Amino acid sequence: MPKLTFINPHGKKSLPLTVEAKPGETILDAAEECGARVGHACGGNLACSTCHVYVQQGYDSLPEIHDKENDIMDKAFDVRAESRLGCQCKLGDEDVVVEISEESLRAWLDENPEARKKEAVAAGSR
Ligand code: FES
Repeated sequence: MPKLTFINPHGKKSLPLTVEAKPGETILDAAEECGARVGHACGGNLACSTCHVYVQQGYDSLPEIHDKENDIMDKAFDVRAESRLGCQCKLGDEDVVVEISEESLRAWLDENPEARKKEAVAAGSR
């Protein structure tokens, strides 16, 4: 089973989260199962770019990017060579490391207002 690691865009503020994933499972599905903060405003239907991640390791083990994913990626912020949409990336047998984009984290916090509140309180007490 491949290991999937999520790195928070705020880097050192929180440790990376590594989980065992199932081959064929998408990065977004694995994120939802383990609570990694990957947004998904359209529910994984390839209609937003809130599941945008940067693949730092294992890029070649993922399916090739297709035209529709490229079209949606045109709407994303801070797109890089290693950018992918988490809902379109089914895992193979190799370990994969992704950094969650700022865009995706913001979307996740919008979808989880309680977590946003807790984070604001914690930031205020530092
Ligand atoms: S969740 Fe909307 S494109 Fe992936």
